[in-house]
Amino acid sequence: MRTLIIGNWKMHGSRASAGALAEACAGLLGHVVLCPPFTLLDVVAQALKSSSVALGAQDCHFAAQGAFTGDISAEMLKDAGCAYVILGHSERRGGWGETDAMVGMKATAAIEAGLIPVICIGETLEEKDAGKTLARVESQLRQSLPAAAMAENTVIAYEPVWAIGTGRTPTLEDIKTVHQHILDILVGIWHCSPAHCRVLYGGSVKAANAGEILAVPGVGGALVGGASLDAGEFAGIVSSVKVAHA
Ligand code: PGA
Repeated sequence: MRTLIIGNWKMHGSRASAGALAEACAGLLGHVVLCPPFTLLDVVAQALKSSSVALGAQDCHFAAQGAFTGDISAEMLKDAGCAYVILGHSERRGGWGETDAMVGMKATAAIEAGLIPVICIGETLEEKDAGKTLARVESQLRQSLPAAAMAENTVIAYEPVWAIGTGRTPTLEDIKTVHQHILDILVGIWHCSPAHCRVLYGGSVKAANAGEILAVPGVGGALVGGASLDAGEFAGIVSSVKVAHA
């Protein structure tokens, strides 16, 4: 399986800046996805038209359509050219009270619409300090993963909440332990080979640390926030895929 690098632009960018950033990323070689805010999906889709870089979004509603003011459905994202959607990011779980059950419903909607959900899980600093990382990650995973999810249509992103946007990352040994635990659970649920399960690491990934993180056994790619807003930094992360597997 090719290493997957996803850029999560969060709530950043104008049509002008997003178009320029997407054009700068359009030539990247590898398995790459850009996830701009909803209003910039069309600009980025345009810039990626003849590129192998794919388009994704940062959230969706669990219904296909209806009276849900302010929401966007998975079908709308598919219609806008998306292939992926990030779900259950800690900024949505924490900021908007999204529960595992809601994330699971959204993931079902995404799969039904033909999108690949990128389901985010990860412990807080308090949970880590209390030695509860594996238990927390396991319960989030089991309860956010819908019945429709399979190795072929779903990506998991392990993002320790305390590592997001902080410049701090777990030790490589800790990343390995958590990814192994996630893979063991997925193999138990999906009855597949761990080699077919895609589990990304996210949280303060940058060009300088991507090579060593991507080389950790069980890490199938990276979900990148801040560093994906800088074309040079993001290109550095994408090119470190080769280094990690050299
Ligand atoms: P970061 O964010 O790379 O800025 O830490 C990662 C994420 O939130 O997906």
